[in-house]
Amino acid sequence: MASNGENGRHQEVGHKSLLQSDALYQYILETSVYPREPEPMKELREITAKHPWNIMTTSADEGQFLSMLLKLINAKNTMEIGVFTGYSLLATAMALPDDGKILAMDINRDNYEIGLPVIEKAGLAHKIEFKEGPALPVLDQMIEDGKYHGSYDFIFVDADKDNYLNYHRRLIELVKVGGLIGYDNTLWNGSVVAPPDAPLRKYVRYYRDFVLELNKALAADPRIEICQLPVGDGITLCRRIS
Ligand SMILES: C[S@@+](CC[C@H](N)C(=O)[O-])C[C@H]1O[C@@H](n2cnc3c(N)ncnc32)[C@H](O)[C@@H]1O
Repeated sequence: MASNGENGRHQEVGHKSLLQSDALYQYILETSVYPREPEPMKELREITAKHPWNIMTTSADEGQFLSMLLKLINAKNTMEIGVFTGYSLLATAMALPDDGKILAMDINRDNYEIGLPVIEKAGLAHKIEFKEGPALPVLDQMIEDGKYHGSYDFIFVDADKDNYLNYHRRLIELVKVGGLIGYDNTLWNGSVVAPPDAPLRKYVRYYRDFVLELNKALAADPRIEICQLPVGDGITLCRRIS
């Protein structure tokens, strides 16, 4: 059991190495993730590694986590905001039953089309409805329609961090009670605990305040239970309870 100091700060040095040691992370990948990674996901991961923006892709351990999670909750109707080349989308498509559905949105169709042949070859394209363009207006339209309220089992958000709270205001209506929203990158490169004068890359600094605001808002939202996990760049799972 974890021990806490008088001020409630975590005192176990060993625990920290999970996030701070590259060797330990590599161990997880090589021992538990890569040997069990389905062939299409491996192929897409290797294609994506050659992309100049490869840093944006969901990591293989997070893909494995999403896959397990979706199966555990028997997800069928899902949504993804932020597709890039489709690694998390493919993980989702593989985890859903044959009649499962994913509404996938991204402002960039070209990157989605890089991964699409792998998805098609795996026989999973029929589960995906891809919409090119900003996600917010689509969500607004769905809320106005009325027929999508409380209809999603799982929603994965991995796009414009400055809109996460705007997404949350809408997604909380679209996810079903008992369903999950997963917000990705909630530890934002570790910058959430960086001192104000830390030398952060410009985009990390820009989005940091939005991530901090989101984390506070999620922790205070009585409509959800939350669990923030140090998987990938941090993922916060929100289970709608009302
Ligand atoms: C971090 S990447 C997504 C990674 C993806 N989940 C994966 O597994 O590779 C973020 C994506 O969000 C998209 N994006 C940015 N702003 C958006 C918006 N307003 N609506 C929808 N997608 C957006 C970008 O084009 C980019 O492909």
